Amino acid sequence: MKGLSKEILQQLKERCLKEIESSSSIDDLENIKIKYFGRKGEIKLLFEELKKMPSEEKKEVGAILNEINKEVRLLLENKIEKLKENSVEYQNYSILEKSLPGVSLPLGNIHPLQKIYNEIIEIFLYLGFSVEEGPEIEFEDYNFTMLNIPYDHPARDMQDTLYLDLPVSDKGKILLRTHTSPVQIRVMLSKKPPIKSIMPGRVYRHENLDASHLFNFHQVEGLAVDKGIRISDLKGILTFFARLMFGKDVLIRFRPSYFPFTEPSLEMDIQCLVCKGKGCSVCKNTGFVEILGCGMVHPQVLYNVGLGYEDYTGFAFGLGVERVAMLKYRIDDIRLFYTNDLRFLRQF
Ligand code: DAH
Repeated sequence: MKGLSKEILQQLKERCLKEIESSSSIDDLENIKIKYFGRKGEIKLLFEELKKMPSEEKKEVGAILNEINKEVRLLLENKIEKLKENSVEYQNYSILEKSLPGVSLPLGNIHPLQKIYNEIIEIFLYLGFSVEEGPEIEFEDYNFTMLNIPYDHPARDMQDTLYLDLPVSDKGKILLRTHTSPVQIRVMLSKKPPIKSIMPGRVYRHENLDASHLFNFHQVEGLAVDKGIRISDLKGILTFFARLMFGKDVLIRFRPSYFPFTEPSLEMDIQCLVCKGKGCSVCKNTGFVEILGCGMVHPQVLYNVGLGYEDYTGFAFGLGVERVAMLKYRIDDIRLFYTNDLRFLRQF
C-alpha cells in the first residue's frame, strides 16, 4: 500500500506538527482539524486504508497510526483551547460569568478645589450673602471700562487679556474675563441696593504656566452696597472669613494697595501655612501669602452704574480660590490641581 508505511506516517506526523506550530489563529487550526481528521481528512482516510492491509503489517502500522492520531489531535485541541482562553470573547464571557464575585469600582471623591470653592460659598451664605454668576465671555466695558480701568491701563495689554476674534460690540471688544469683577457691574446694573453678593467663577489670563501661575483659575468676587457701609465692615467680614477657613489663630495682615475700582484699596495676606511664616517657595520667602484684593467701591464705579455716590457706599473683594486651597492643603505647586494625577487627588 503506497499510502501506508512507517516513513510515510513519520512524514505525515512531522507535516501535521509543523502546520499546527505555525498557525496562530483558531480558524487556521480548525481548518487543520478538518484537513486531517474531517470526514475526508487525510488521517481518517488512512484508517480506511489500514483496514485493507494484510494483518501482519496492519498491527505495526496500525499502532503507529493510532499513536499519531492521538498525539496530533491532543496537540491541536490544546492549542485551540489556549487561543480561546486568550480571546476577547472568552475574557468577556468570563467577566459576565454570574458565579464570579463582582468587581468593585474605585470610589471617587470631590476635587480639592471644588471642596474649597464649596466651603468659601458656604461661609458667605452663612454671612447673608447671595450667590450671583456672570458669563466667562465678557464685554470689554464690563471687564475694564466701567470698573474704572482706563484705556491705557497695562491690564488691558494683550499679554494679560485673551481677546476673542469676534466683531466689536456696542460694549467694546469681546474677551475672556480676566477677573470676576465685571459681575459686580452686572449685579449693580440689575439690582438696587442693598446688595450683598458673592460671585464665584472661572477667569482667564495670558500667563505662562509655572508653580504659582495658571492661564485659567478661579476667583470669588464679593460686593456689598448700601447706605453707610464702612471699611470696618469689610475688614470684619474678611477676618471672620479667614478665621473660619484657616482656624481662629490664623495671622492676617491688611496692606494698602491700588486697584482702579476701589478707593482706598487693600490686599489681605495670610501667614504662610506651608512654612508657618518661615519662608518658602509658596510665600516667596516673605512668610505671607496674598489671598485677596479689596477696598471701598470707587465713587466713579458707582456713578458708572447709575448709583448716586452721595447716597451709597460699598465694599468689594476678589479672592483667589487656588491660593486659598494651596494654603489650606499646604500645596506648593498650583499645577497639581489640573494635572489629574490620582496619587494627588486621592489624598483629599
Ligand atoms: N479683580 C482683582 C484681580 O483680579 C481683585 C480685586 C481687587 C477684586 C479688589 C475686587 C477688589 O473686588 O475690590 O486682581
